[in-house]
Amino acid sequence: MFDHRNGQLYCDELSLAEFAGSVPTPFYLYAKKTMLERIRTLSSVFSSLPSTVIAYAVKTNNNLSILKIAAGEGLGADIISRGELFRYLAAGGDARKVVFSGVAKTEAELRYAMERNILMINAESLPELLAIDRIAADYGTVNVALRINPDVAAGTHKKITTGTKGNKFGVGIETIRENIALLRSLKHAKLTGIAMHIGSQILKAKPYHDSYVRAKAVLELLRSEGFTITHVDIGGGFGIPYNEAKDEPFDFTSYKKTVIPVLEGFDATMIVEPGRFIVAESGVLVARVEYVKVEAGRTFVIVNAGMNDLVRVAMYDAYHEILPLVKRAGTMTADIVGPVCESSDVFASGRRISTVKEGDCVAIMNAGAYGYSMSSNYNGRPRLAEYLVDGSHVRPIRREERLEEMITHEKEYLQ
Ligand code: LLP
Repeated sequence: MFDHRNGQLYCDELSLAEFAGSVPTPFYLYAKKTMLERIRTLSSVFSSLPSTVIAYAVKTNNNLSILKIAAGEGLGADIISRGELFRYLAAGGDARKVVFSGVAKTEAELRYAMERNILMINAESLPELLAIDRIAADYGTVNVALRINPDVAAGTHKKITTGTKGNKFGVGIETIRENIALLRSLKHAKLTGIAMHIGSQILKAKPYHDSYVRAKAVLELLRSEGFTITHVDIGGGFGIPYNEAKDEPFDFTSYKKTVIPVLEGFDATMIVEPGRFIVAESGVLVARVEYVKVEAGRTFVIVNAGMNDLVRVAMYDAYHEILPLVKRAGTMTADIVGPVCESSDVFASGRRISTVKEGDCVAIMNAGAYGYSMSSNYNGRPRLAEYLVDGSHVRPIRREERLEEMITHEKEYLQ
């Protein structure tokens, strides 16, 4: 959806160079068509299964207009907090397609979800299951899934691996075997599902295959113990090729061949929780080059977006392609850095990029997932505007935060 035509970077039918000249930078911008394409890809991957709910992981990009597109395509939501449920419902989402994950759900959050009659709560520990059982007494019965930690390495960055022993997520398979009596004692929490999410930015089918084979054993155990398991939540995690020179796209061919047959054997409604795969490649962060500085033999391209706007590089050493909005002749090797007072405020180091000069704009690519949603006001920086492109049409879906708004919650306490 993003490509250079006659030296100008386009998003769909919109010239980003022209657009960036007409609004303040930095900003986020998303291509609606990419999202729709990715949703269709996923729907077709799971189309052979009798019943699947695609529950978009709201944490990935929670802009209301993005959520509205997801809900409009029939997607449910994977939420992690009351705030995310509030957002998804405000965007027109269907509570009956919502699953609630997270290791530390509070009583207030659980009640909020139960009052809205969501599809399923994924309990991440036995103590949480007992809490749900107690609280659910006020709501009749509540469907719960037990999140399994299958102890399978997902082959991804250690900070985004969630399904190995020693992670805080889910319940080990041994623990489940040893606690069947406790599961049976539940009165208001009805154990109707199992859930997994083994990590994020996974590019291979094998870790999925291995963890679902383990999950199948748990499913059979629970069924043999008399539980009616109707739902299996298989998590999210499908990765994207951030570095096209190195990464292959997610291997759906092998997934269809090796993983889908395992899922077919589950005989349950499948819930899948993709986030990144749907929105990452739809989004860019556009920034302007403020200065080009040469120091100690290094060239620093200093842009006006920082790690507070996109933290992925500082936090996970993530790779993001950086492209000029208008191509000049030649290339240069540079560190592309932001304005924040941290040495980790670097988008790329020693990167060969198309030549840029002061005043030029660049697009930090594949920034639609975990970009805006992880941004902060650090260094007194207002949160950015977001735009949505459809064809040659572009419209704001969030305006830039005003300075006044950054102090509203404190002003009344100023003595
Ligand atoms: N379901 C659960 C329970 C999750 O914890 C997550 C992501 C997802 C689904 C969606 O995963 P996805 O399809 O997007 O891989 N901030 C990191 C990624 C953290 C992922 C957290 N959980 C990053 O920027 O790479």
